[in-house]
Amino acid sequence: MEIQVLQAGTGKPVTKLSELSKTSTIADVKAKIYKEKRKFYPDRQAIKSSLKGKTLKDDDTLANLGLSDGGELYLKDLGPQIRWKLVFLCEYTGPLLAYLFFYLRPAFIYGTEAVNQPMHKAVHIAAACWTFHYAKRLLETLFIHRFSHATMPIRNLFKNVSYYSGFGAYVSYYMNHPLYTPPVYGDVQLYIGLATFLLNEFGNFSIHLALRNLRPPGTKERRIPYPTSNPMTLAFAFVSCPNYTYEVGAWLGFTVMSQCMPAGLFTLAGLYQMAMWAMGKHRNYKKEFSSYPRSRKCIIPFLL
Ligand SMILES: NC(=O)c1ccc[n+]([C@@H]2O[C@H](COP(=O)([O-])OP(=O)(O)OC[C@H]3O[C@@H](n4cnc5c(N)ncnc54)[C@H](OP(=O)(O)O)[C@@H]3O)[C@@H](O)[C@H]2O)c1
Repeated sequence: MEIQVLQAGTGKPVTKLSELSKTSTIADVKAKIYKEKRKFYPDRQAIKSSLKGKTLKDDDTLANLGLSDGGELYLKDLGPQIRWKLVFLCEYTGPLLAYLFFYLRPAFIYGTEAVNQPMHKAVHIAAACWTFHYAKRLLETLFIHRFSHATMPIRNLFKNVSYYSGFGAYVSYYMNHPLYTPPVYGDVQLYIGLATFLLNEFGNFSIHLALRNLRPPGTKERRIPYPTSNPMTLAFAFVSCPNYTYEVGAWLGFTVMSQCMPAGLFTLAGLYQMAMWAMGKHRNYKKEFSSYPRSRKCIIPFLL
């Protein structure tokens, strides 16, 4: 059968595809478009069934979509793509280097006098925590996460790298400043903050591991997450995205420990961003799985 491909949004003709059958999938359609128009490699395409409709899944068949000979599909150009993993690697290397630059080269930023100033132990512990956090995320990206997307639009790279590196530099500038004020409640505040940070980092890692085990290697399968034998995953009984909850908890711990205002702002910005994502993921879970536990919230137990 023959299918007409039009541009999503404008409806302008892109190409005509032939030799398709009712059992052909959207992935087959993408491969055919790529054959006709070499610019549109499959990861760059989003296929829709109407001008402004939702993106269709790769395994949707033409029969399921009710398409017959002469039917129409709409192509949205997602723009040049970049490997998802590479984005994450840049995203996490940026803030790591930005932060360490201020810590390791204070003379360069604050003047030569800064080298002779003693650094409070909170400054060293904060640098260790920051490094630990981003090293953990780099390693998780390489060895733990099983992503369902291979690529993402290249423009996201600039947005994400600037966000994380900008905040890394902002927090680090104040943390490593010669006029830095150590925690007012001394070691008690420092170690309560540190313990909170470490506990939440462990929680976040535990959730990432549980999510990995939900998806068989090489698949895009999604399942309902439930608590496992690791007690940190009990959080799944309360929220849909406990990895975000733990991430916010870790930055709260870092803020208490460091008593650094920019760290508090980073925590709030992260909470806002992750709350938005968690609400979207929560909605999708409920839509996708009719048996999804109703008592769960999105990111903050009992509240949100
Ligand atoms: N500080 C900040 O501002 C900030 C903001 C965002 C994230 N983060 C950190 O970055 C981490 C990763 O973020 P993310 O947004 O990528 O987390 P995520 O969406 O929860 O995903 C983590 C991994 O688990 C997979 N996954 C999620 N739900 C699944 C399910 N039901 N079944 C099977 N696999 C599933 C995801 O695959 P898919 O590829 O299919 O999604 C992805 O590979 C967060 O946990 C957090 O620590 C920090």
